[in-house]
Amino acid sequence: MTIKNICCIGAGYVGGPTMTVIAQKCPNIKVTVVDINEARINAWNNSDLNKLPVFEPGLDSIVEEARDRNLFFSTNVDAAIDEADMIFISVNTPTKTYGKGKGMAADLKYIELCARQIAKVAKTDKIVVEKSTLPVRTASAIKNILDHTGNGVKFQILSNPEFLAEGTAVQDLLKPDRVLIGGDTSAEGEQAIQALVDIYANWVPKDHILTTNVWSSELSKLTANAFLAQRVSSINAMSVICEKTGADVSEVSKAIGMDSRIGPKFLKASVGFGGSCFQKDILNLVYIAKSYGLNEVADYWEQVILMNDYQKNRFSDNIVSTLYNTVSGKKIAFLGWAFKKDTNDTRESAAIKVADNLLNERAHVEVYDPKVTEEQIYTDIDYLNSRNYEENRKLLKVNSDPYECCKSAHAIAVLTEWDEFKTYDWQKIYNNMQKPAFVFDGRGVLDTKVLEDIGFVCYSIGKGHV
Ligand code: UDX
Ligand code: ADP
Repeated sequence: MTIKNICCIGAGYVGGPTMTVIAQKCPNIKVTVVDINEARINAWNNSDLNKLPVFEPGLDSIVEEARDRNLFFSTNVDAAIDEADMIFISVNTPTKTYGKGKGMAADLKYIELCARQIAKVAKTDKIVVEKSTLPVRTASAIKNILDHTGNGVKFQILSNPEFLAEGTAVQDLLKPDRVLIGGDTSAEGEQAIQALVDIYANWVPKDHILTTNVWSSELSKLTANAFLAQRVSSINAMSVICEKTGADVSEVSKAIGMDSRIGPKFLKASVGFGGSCFQKDILNLVYIAKSYGLNEVADYWEQVILMNDYQKNRFSDNIVSTLYNTVSGKKIAFLGWAFKKDTNDTRESAAIKVADNLLNERAHVEVYDPKVTEEQIYTDIDYLNSRNYEENRKLLKVNSDPYECCKSAHAIAVLTEWDEFKTYDWQKIYNNMQKPAFVFDGRGVLDTKVLEDIGFVCYSIGKGHV
């Protein structure tokens, strides 16, 4: 079976970049990315490539190459479904905020709506690919909806989880460690798997394309994210011990990372992991474990989240106690708001929780981030409902100039590891701050020695003072 026409439902951080790369690498396939969010689609179609809705290094030039050749962005969901041989579902699956499984289970309402829409529109057989992170056994729910349409159309459901990380999405898509495709073991299932393998084989070496059954594929995605998050929580747990004992967590990371059994990646201590996946996927895993009565398993994974919450709260507590137990009316400058560098995504960013804690202490927080908009920052902080609209605007400001942002501040907190922070004129920043001038580096990116020589009082995550 040769695929000629792909539709992707959901033009977000996953759907947009993934389809852009597929379109670039498969010029003979027409790829249409659809979304109900008209503003988002307009942004993908914007002739100014700086205005794409997702910022990813290298993405703009690939969009430019493929857009309007064989890559299209549209709000006409039905037409794209109708035309397609293969449909990717790449809509958001947030943690449920209501009802059974509240705060833990994934909210599948967007997925279900997509399945129902496909069922309604499809007139020819289709392969449906789950791209969003989903709890195990979602494929069977989708299949159930699709198989009961009564219009004789046959559907094959594949699971093809996305392992791209934001900020490196393009590289991760061009050179993936592996592509995972889960499908049915029937002859039709195997045909569908092969059709998707053939697409990736246009640029991914065959031995990097793994095929499994659907459940293994779905569970592998949750497992990968749980393991990665667990490494961050493990090193963050060690960062506290380092601070108490005078060890340096970056030295500990290096020392253990050279053990080939452990490896060097994901051992960077931080103010806490963020992003749309880690917390959501672990909560999902916890929910699945609990629903099978596996309470010990659930508790084990939940601890990764609890450690992460502790790390965020510990960081803001330290700011308050260092600033003589009160930050009321004091200006704290935030460098960074995104959940990691090289992305404009702020979902679950540690900065949001740290800001919330400090605002509750009546601090004046001023934020600079090179990629995150003022509108997004206020949206994030308003969403918490901790204070009203006016209070948030009174206590929190956003500044597009880092030097102005730090001016007259009592302390600077580094929340994202943007490279540009290392290149700043720190002497100039110091001269314009209140004294003593404090820096709280939640990412361990600044050279404490240089800052201390200037006169700053420095706290760097995981770095103890002997
Ligand atoms: C993650 C997975 O890496 C990716 O495979 C999956 O598809 C989606 O979820 P992402 O959330 O985009 O990707 O970013 P990632 O690089 O994994 O970072 C997640 C968070 O962990 C960030 O807040 C990051 O700053 C933090 N982190 C990461 C650390 O604090 N220390 C580290 O050593 C690594
Ligand atoms: P992710 O990080 O998983 O890509 P995003 O929130 O960035 O998540 O993107 C998901 C996109 O899916 C959003 O732009 C949203 O508007 C879109 N979406 C959700 N439900 C539907 C639907 N039924 N039809 C079309 N698009 C949808």
